[in-house]
Amino acid sequence: MHAEIVVLPGDGIGPEVTAAAVEVLRTVGRRYGHAFALREHPIGGAAIDATGEPLPEATLAACRKADAVLLGAVGGPKWSDPKAKVRPEQGLLALRKGLGLYANLRPVKPHAATLGASPIKPHLLAGVDLLVVRELTGGIYFGQKQRGADSASDLCEYSVAEIERVVRRACALARGRRGHVVSVDKANVLETSRLWREVAARVARDEFPDVTLEHQLVDSMAMHLIAKPRAFDVIVTENMFGDILTDEASMLAGSLGLLPSASLGEGKIGLYEPIHGSAPDIAGRGIANPVGTILSAALLLRHSLGLSDEADCIEQSVAAVLERGVLSADLAPGGRGASTAEVTAAVLAQLELPCQVAELRD
Ligand code: NAD
Ligand code: IPM
Ligand code: MN
Repeated sequence: MHAEIVVLPGDGIGPEVTAAAVEVLRTVGRRYGHAFALREHPIGGAAIDATGEPLPEATLAACRKADAVLLGAVGGPKWSDPKAKVRPEQGLLALRKGLGLYANLRPVKPHAATLGASPIKPHLLAGVDLLVVRELTGGIYFGQKQRGADSASDLCEYSVAEIERVVRRACALARGRRGHVVSVDKANVLETSRLWREVAARVARDEFPDVTLEHQLVDSMAMHLIAKPRAFDVIVTENMFGDILTDEASMLAGSLGLLPSASLGEGKIGLYEPIHGSAPDIAGRGIANPVGTILSAALLLRHSLGLSDEADCIEQSVAAVLERGVLSADLAPGGRGASTAEVTAAVLAQLELPCQVAELRD
């Protein structure tokens, strides 16, 4: 097949990890006979430096025309002056909103080979396989912001329609899994959460009688997530709670560098990015873990291009490489791990070997 993929490297380790995922996509394209046209555009701090804007019009236009978008990360100390008029993060938020990508899928499935890197006891992690569906284009991130001399405010707003569509997406995804959804809110305090809980309950009851829905307050959820992670299948929540809970959930897998994400709307186009940031503390050293971005490329193939066998192959290759002990510094005991280039080379080599799924079609 032919597909147009826009690559947005961004800042910090962004360019290092997208370069790895691009090599993976090129290898998959060559090996399985697909023509992937991969074109880079600026976003974030790099775009501010080049054009003054965190999301240049040309970048957004290219993304709108593409089949899928792969992003590294944005932000960094250079652009973090609290008085700055534009910030790299605004570019990412505008891109998510501009493409209507309201459902952010963040799967968490700890790999046996990296259990040792998790601060959680291994017996609690065996069999963990959960999916956080984070609402991505509403809530406190997008409400009106105000700054006065002595005060500031961020408005948190949700409409019924915004809650309905993301809960629907979560319930539909649960159907293909274990049929269990936990909706996370702060309904004991927040009005938006009381609306969230009401709408979630109605959508599940009326449209998904085969799916079980439970409600959980976000503070105790933060605790349950690490105390009994196996209890969860699909977790659906609002924008900021989902942001925070997924960085926490990355510790189940062993590193923030491992988790991928897919941001989806109503159409085929999606934005695929690791859940981590630009990691300024390790940027430029060639030691970033590329796995979260490589697995995001797998999600891109599955969700936007319909190439699920190829996606499976990437995931199997990553699993095999981790199993062989090719671990980047964030995962390696003592911190002396394989470089980004070494992990990537190992995945590319593994991709050349027969893959259990696609081999049937070769
Ligand atoms: P971060 O995710 O960048 O880093 C947190 C910690 O995790 C750091 O110690 C970092 O070295 C480590 N880490 C992250 N990814 C890693 C990887 N792939 N391999 C190895 N270690 C990794 O979060 P932060 O430090 O709070 O934020 C830094 C900047 O990134 C900020 O400007 C923030 O706004 C931005 N950010 C961007 C995104 C995004 O673009 N989607 C996401 C989160 C944060
Ligand atoms: C993420 C990041 C972003 C978010 C920031 C950089 C705007 O933390 O993708 O998780 O909060 O959504
Ligand atoms: Mn985040």
